[in-house]
Amino acid sequence: METARTILAIETSCDETSVAVLKRTDLDTGARYEVLSHVTLSQIELHIPYGGVYPNLARREHEANITHVIAEALQKANLLVPATTSMNLDQNAISAVLSREEILLPIISDFLEHNVKPDIDAIAVTVGPGLEPALWVGINTARVLSTAWDLPVIPVNHMEGHIYSCWAVATEFAQPDVPLPSLALLISGGHTEFISVQNWGEYEYLGGTIDDAIGEAFDKSARLLGLAYPGGPKVSKFAAEFEATGGKLDTKYELPRPMIGSGDLRMSFSGLKTAVRYMVEKLKESNGGELTEADIAATCYSFETAVVDVLIKKTKLALDQTCAQSLMIGGGVAANRRIRSALQTICDEYQIPLLLPTSELSTDNALMIALAGIHKTPTKDLSVLVATGNLQF
Ligand code: KG4
Ligand code: ZN
Repeated sequence: METARTILAIETSCDETSVAVLKRTDLDTGARYEVLSHVTLSQIELHIPYGGVYPNLARREHEANITHVIAEALQKANLLVPATTSMNLDQNAISAVLSREEILLPIISDFLEHNVKPDIDAIAVTVGPGLEPALWVGINTARVLSTAWDLPVIPVNHMEGHIYSCWAVATEFAQPDVPLPSLALLISGGHTEFISVQNWGEYEYLGGTIDDAIGEAFDKSARLLGLAYPGGPKVSKFAAEFEATGGKLDTKYELPRPMIGSGDLRMSFSGLKTAVRYMVEKLKESNGGELTEADIAATCYSFETAVVDVLIKKTKLALDQTCAQSLMIGGGVAANRRIRSALQTICDEYQIPLLLPTSELSTDNALMIALAGIHKTPTKDLSVLVATGNLQF
């Protein structure tokens, strides 16, 4: 028998206000997924002067934009029905949910007054991990929409979303064939971890960084080199130029590979960033206080090589330990060309498939939250959302 379910998903854990509408149709032949819409508003430009994401600015931007992004996503999905007369709202119930959200309350009330309840079955929302002030905007929006529209909610772990990001290969797709157990490597600005996926929805944390995340190390090293936030893509670009021009690394650019020989899946990237700091100081000293373009390119290449070496060693160890039948990667750093190609080489060697998100879905987005959420049982118990603001695996 054919059944269908449509959910709206909200992601506000960092600096992207993102909303997706996803439809799942269960057929005799298996489930099919249709992306009805996906709208993401990035705040990245606003955070550049701060050299990183500034949590309270992120919160203010999410508050200002959330209903516009929801309206656009519903409209693109042909599910936005403007009300012909002002809707009758239970203002007491809405105010109770948003009692601590002075800014959000009038914005959401206005949206609810002017639009009819859309034809959706549930609302999924990222409940953590992430920046707490930013997360609450999404969580409280989901809570109030759930109350006003009498719909259940689905709390979703952000990292679980990154695992699902490799599913969406087109606007319509079937569940991809991912041989299980699978190993997921999640690499972003906030996380660097190996997760064993025994079954979809069944995870085990295997190990990861004990200090900085890889993306954070990219961003901090970039800053030391005078490159603006987010530094990851810029470091990667300089490294590619160095490689393309046949550059050879002089010993003065050598960097350590922290914890590469620890024999377990723990990693450390804060020491690597500190080593970049000392190297940059030395290079400047020998050049009248300035960094040359050649120094920047060589340092970027050397840094990226150190990261790739550590990831190769640890990924092989994780594959050996888990006997995983496939490798999935997710998170913003998964956009890095050399990391992608090094992981592809490992998968060729182990004869297992590598599943990668598109570059659009490597960074934070609501579609991955919808994909992770659409498999879960929705809840009417909003206290679950409130209590799980800082959910971990
Ligand atoms: O997943 P994401 O969008 O946000 C977090 O949840 O953190 O990841 C952002 C991170 C930033 O640190 C950014 O510099 C890094 O991903 N990044 C890259 C590349 N593209 C983005 N790092 C290295 N190489 C890239 N090409
Ligand atoms: Zn993320």
